[in-house]
Amino acid sequence: MPGLLLGDEAPNFEAETTQGRIRFHDFLGDSWGILFSHPRDFTPVCTTELGRAAKLASEFSKRNVKMIALSIDSVQDHLSWSKDINAYNGEQPEEKLPFPIIADANRELAVKLGMLDPDERDKDGMPLTARVVFVFGPDKKLKLSILYPATTGRNFDEILRVVDSLQLTAYKKVATPVDWKPGDSVMVVPTLPDEEAKKLFPKGVFTKDLPSGKKYLRYTPQPE
Ligand code: BEZ
Repeated sequence: MPGLLLGDEAPNFEAETTQGRIRFHDFLGDSWGILFSHPRDFTPVCTTELGRAAKLASEFSKRNVKMIALSIDSVQDHLSWSKDINAYNGEQPEEKLPFPIIADANRELAVKLGMLDPDERDKDGMPLTARVVFVFGPDKKLKLSILYPATTGRNFDEILRVVDSLQLTAYKKVATPVDWKPGDSVMVVPTLPDEEAKKLFPKGVFTKDLPSGKKYLRYTPQPE
């Protein structure tokens, strides 16, 4: 079955983009990466999403995350659409966005990565791309995926939030609870023994008492 599962290595595909031809692993380098797909150029929801993604580019860059979009149109269309996206953002209608957009006019990559939405089709009856987000770690393994249908725009603040959570897990060995926001307390992972947790988290580990008597709800202030 095409698509990617958590832990899979990013395929090292070659593609034409608005910033030239790339090989995906070279593009990622040692950075984190986010690959987000869009149904089609010159469509309303996609325009708002790419506008928001462009506005948040410095936030992704701060977190060492390289951004790349994909849409099933040509480079020429992507460049022309980029002017609309910049204008939507209230900026000069330039062709340049702070990230490349992959051209996938024959849907080869979209099929390989499991990105098609069977319910949304073009005038020839061909499926459009769904709204997929893949976040890859510096090891090029898939750390997170999000799959929305073409008709539902994503929340890019949420995507930044999950990047923060993934990086806290990668660098500080903690998990993040429901509705967690940066600065909130985080959770000690169940596999970490109490003694090690105390050493690892000098700000303290706080356990909530539960009817079961089991001490698994362990919080610690967000590590720096
Ligand atoms: C949009 O971006 O607005 C869109 C694209 C395909 C299907 C539905 C909406």
